[in-house]
Amino acid sequence: MTAPRPLELAAPGPSREHLNRLVLTGAKVADLRLASDAPPPRVGDDLTLVGNAGEPAARVRVAAVDRVRLGDVTWAQVEAEGEGFASVADWRRQHEQVWRAAGEAPGDTTELMWTRFHVVSPRPVLPPRPTAGDLELPEGYRHVYGGKVRDLFRTPDGDVLVVASDRISAYDWVLPTTIPDKGRVLNRMSLWWFDRLADLVPNHVVSTATPGLVGDRGVVCRELEMLPVECVVRGYLTGSGLADYRATGQVCGNALPPGLDEASRLPTSLFTPATKAAVGDHDENVDFDRVVAEVGPQLAADLRDTSLAVYARAEEVTRARGIILADTKFEFGRDPGGPGILLADEVLTPDSSRYWAAAGWRPGAPQPSFDKQYVRDWLTSPESGWDRAADTPPPPLPPEVVARTRAKYLEAYELITGETFP
Ligand SMILES: Nc1ncnc2c1ncn2[C@@H]1O[C@H](COP(=O)(O)OP(=O)(O)OP(=O)(O)O)[C@@H](O)[C@H]1O
Ligand SMILES: [Mg+2]
Repeated sequence: MTAPRPLELAAPGPSREHLNRLVLTGAKVADLRLASDAPPPRVGDDLTLVGNAGEPAARVRVAAVDRVRLGDVTWAQVEAEGEGFASVADWRRQHEQVWRAAGEAPGDTTELMWTRFHVVSPRPVLPPRPTAGDLELPEGYRHVYGGKVRDLFRTPDGDVLVVASDRISAYDWVLPTTIPDKGRVLNRMSLWWFDRLADLVPNHVVSTATPGLVGDRGVVCRELEMLPVECVVRGYLTGSGLADYRATGQVCGNALPPGLDEASRLPTSLFTPATKAAVGDHDENVDFDRVVAEVGPQLAADLRDTSLAVYARAEEVTRARGIILADTKFEFGRDPGGPGILLADEVLTPDSSRYWAAAGWRPGAPQPSFDKQYVRDWLTSPESGWDRAADTPPPPLPPEVVARTRAKYLEAYELITGETFP
């Protein structure tokens, strides 16, 4: 067997580093080059993606090959390469410099090869990111971040378009199956809450008018310098808070009375910060002093007080609707140069919060959650065949688990907002 041919997608340096990171987190990989560049790739070919130091970075397979004339290159093709060009003209100008230096002088009718790959190994940790082409974003929108659930595109105005996908994560894995409409639920719910919290804290929303096919799964936001603290507030004891309490009698440095149990209501709601983990890692609970060390005393106090105030407001709103907000996580950012903190990211969604039906609340046992209960139950059942302890990705979800999970997200939306999900 011959070794797969090497594939060099960009010049060594920051561009290639960025591309390799995209590849390893599950990006679509695409390449646009002069057709005269031999040898032409064929669909099904396996290639070795070359890393920044010339090392093999990934095994990729050619998924599609098309020819395109230089004058007909589209923004969707340029953006899908992931190299950060601002426009088609910018891409062309920079490539023409390289081509000219190599003694080539292509014109509008020169043929290029437009190749798309998918990653064979290592197995990507995220499903493929959407490209500007998938979402029909106009020229200038560039993918800048792919999270477990959201994708961020920088807008031509320097804002950031935050698009909530239908991806779902459980047990620190992004699952291979998506939940239809989940992204719309999350985005609409965050917006609903931002409105109801606006008198307590400014937020990152610029506009709900979104381009292309994004619709109500996205929102245009100010691009903030995010603070490296997961601002968790707990009104009830469960999850990692309960684990810490059982081990130490405290949660994030807050001493608690003895005798509390799973799902007990806490004497007062607590700020229980955590540090943000990379994809695939657990967040780590920390005490307030760590937050002070991270962002300074003034900001730390601001994060704590604002988080507690927002939780108190939200808890009051949901209680009136028969729902307990057991705990929730906020992320805040700063406008570079601007004063104070802004509430950012997603707010009070079923993904960032534990919502329980007040009528069914029975301390002493885990409460059914409003979102991923069916997913977690199925994944840990013998039926899934998945071993949580082994380091293997979870299997695809069966259709009935998808349907019931989707129904739960919609139910949460309708119960909390009091609106019919459109
Ligand atoms: N206004 C903003 N400016 C810059 N970054 C933002 C803004 N709002 C949210 N973010 C960041 O966008 C990302 C959203 O991606 P996503 O929700 O998929 O999160 P994640 O961090 O990968 O995973 P998790 O939510 O499970 O921690 C987060 O890293 C968040 O900090
Ligand atoms: Mg997030």
